[in-house]
Amino acid sequence: MGETIQKRSRTLSRQWFERAQKSLVEGVNSPSRGAAVYADGPVLLERGNGSHVWDIDGNEYIDFMMSFGALIQGHAHPNLVKTVSEAMAEGSHFAAATSAEVEAAERFRGMVPSAEVVRFTNTGSEATMLALRLARAHTGRNKFLKFEGHYHGWYDPFLLNAHSHQPEQLGPVENPTRIPDSEGIPLSIFDDVVLAPWNDTAALEKVMKRHGHDLAAMITEPIMANMGCILPREGYLQRMRELTRDCGALLILDEVVTGFRYAPGGCQEYYGVQPDISTFGKALGAGFPVGAVAGPRSILERMRWSEHMVLHYGTFNGHRLTMKVIAANLDLLAAENVYQKFHAVGNAAIAGLREVFRRRKVKAIVQGFGPMFQIYFTERDAIHDYRDYCKYVDTKLYSRFIHLLLDRGIYMTPSNGLHWIISTAHTESDVQALVEAADQACTGLS
Ligand SMILES: Cc1ncc(COP(=O)(O)O)c(C=O)c1O
Repeated sequence: MGETIQKRSRTLSRQWFERAQKSLVEGVNSPSRGAAVYADGPVLLERGNGSHVWDIDGNEYIDFMMSFGALIQGHAHPNLVKTVSEAMAEGSHFAAATSAEVEAAERFRGMVPSAEVVRFTNTGSEATMLALRLARAHTGRNKFLKFEGHYHGWYDPFLLNAHSHQPEQLGPVENPTRIPDSEGIPLSIFDDVVLAPWNDTAALEKVMKRHGHDLAAMITEPIMANMGCILPREGYLQRMRELTRDCGALLILDEVVTGFRYAPGGCQEYYGVQPDISTFGKALGAGFPVGAVAGPRSILERMRWSEHMVLHYGTFNGHRLTMKVIAANLDLLAAENVYQKFHAVGNAAIAGLREVFRRRKVKAIVQGFGPMFQIYFTERDAIHDYRDYCKYVDTKLYSRFIHLLLDRGIYMTPSNGLHWIISTAHTESDVQALVEAADQACTGLS
């Protein structure tokens, strides 16, 4: 990639973004893609192949965002292109029972240890929504516990303290100020939400003592992936498991980000924790919109048609093209050494970035391991939770850093709350290019 830093022309990106303002709110379909995140306006992407993407002006980048983690096989993987093309020629979707959904479900069960049965949804948000409904029906309780800084999709009751805020707004750890993330949600919805800090066993034990027996469920991301990449403290997930079991509450493991990423069976396999219900999305569909709820028959069979069933409809559930993609994707992931490679390539990127920051005397840490990590500009040695993130992470500096990387051929979102993703398409030379670009970007920071 070398030292050549010609200012990339973004004329067409700018023109199209201007044009988009007339038809789309903020010119995009999600605030995370527009001017709220990209200081100079978004880079409009037109094409992807393997680990590379090209913008509308023809500039090439190595993509480390990978559709927020959805593209576990990179862009336009030949097997998936073939699968989709062939399936499309037969008809995209029938909203009827198909062999494709059976084949997808069988492979899913083969990889995820807790999945006695699975139900496919269209997004991760739908999956968490369904998981909560199932938990409430199963336990006959309404309340549930969510953690500060965890994002579980945009369903009303989950939108409490999912965004970062100024430290002085957060209130005491033992009684966090409750901050809704959206207008348009009746505050009464949050009466059923118990809010707790994450990664703090003593605090969780206290909250569970008080509320545990009223809870339908505790929902958690196994690795906190919406404040960058924050790992659970040793034994923390296991303690959650014990506390929920003791109170008759269900443990919902939201593996929408981590599923199929850290291990074939996600973080539940990696950390050896047995959830009651788990939710998936993103990497499962390898770029196609999908979500999934998995768990034992005793819980999921509540959706079986009856007078007292848990309702879950959806025209696009089990979308045929997506089911074909899932089967092909999971076959690719089941091949030998895939996960070793994810971990090796990711760890090389992490080590390279750490070396750059150390050598360039930039106060930044790289947190996470293997296939997912995040850079924090901070004086701290580690970021352990939501409050650390809100207090100690310089998210503006991160955004500047990413904009410098964008000019050097690395594609990543400037939002510090997301994370770097390694796909099967990433190579050692991509890592080398990233490390070189990061080194150059450090010069631009000073
Ligand atoms: C942990 C987690 N759960 C659920 C969701 C919602 O998934 P989707 O965007 O597919 O609705 C997300 C999305 O980023 C997520 O990070």
